Amino acid sequence: MSKGKLEKFAMLADYANCVEPSMDEARLGSIPLKGKWHKDFFKNDNPLTVELACGGGEYTVGMAEMYPDRNFIGIDIKGNRIWKGATKAIEKDLTNVGFLRTRIDFIINCFAEGEVDELWITFPDPQPNKNRRRKRLTNKLFLGRYKQVLKPGGKLRLKTDSDFFYEFTREVIKEEGLELSFECDDIYVKYTPENSETKLGKELALKTFYEKMWLEEGKTIKYIEYFLDKLTS
Ligand SMILES: C[S@@+](CC[C@H](N)C(=O)[O-])C[C@H]1O[C@@H](n2cnc3c(N)ncnc32)[C@H](O)[C@@H]1O
Repeated sequence: MSKGKLEKFAMLADYANCVEPSMDEARLGSIPLKGKWHKDFFKNDNPLTVELACGGGEYTVGMAEMYPDRNFIGIDIKGNRIWKGATKAIEKDLTNVGFLRTRIDFIINCFAEGEVDELWITFPDPQPNKNRRRKRLTNKLFLGRYKQVLKPGGKLRLKTDSDFFYEFTREVIKEEGLELSFECDDIYVKYTPENSETKLGKELALKTFYEKMWLEEGKTIKYIEYFLDKLTS
């Protein structure tokens, strides 16, 4: 029988690989692990990748398997989704994975300046309505927060099915004069990660829950990676 939400939430509260700060702690102050993820959580100095809007954590877990010498944290607000990723990581004995259940909006209260080496956003809600611009995870406000926690030279990497979100992101990059590292508006046709032996190819070949759904619907998958160093406040 499949587990209900409450049962999953109770399990999550006991999982050592999941951190669930209270809303007040994350919104108003600093969570205890801020600045201490390496020392107190992973107990190593390996580089840290954070996946935003991780949902069921397919990327976080997939990348952690691919790179045992790196650390990975998936962030999402939905406990039942995080449960899926955290459970998978436990079943696979992955010690380089953590999940943080909180709003991405509070990221600067969760990580210290320069604590994160790389950020991924996988299939965020595109929020196409004009009055939802402030919710789009690649708007300038969010980028300013990401820049604070990212190491100089760290990349933001985005995978999306949404033409609207892809174009919005490209516009912000242009408006802010940010440095683009790579972009492809149809990865499975133009880049074919499955046939690629490159590091990027192997990473792009991983598929999230939503990505599989969109691929079945015939949507094209877009990818863009860029640096935030030139973002002005
Ligand atoms: C469309 S789903 C994608 C999930 C996953 N990345 C995938 O591709 O299967 C978007 C996710 O973003 C999360 N999300 C949206 N806005 C958020 C925010 N401000 N803070 C935390 N999570 C957020 C939602 O809870 C949801 O799980």
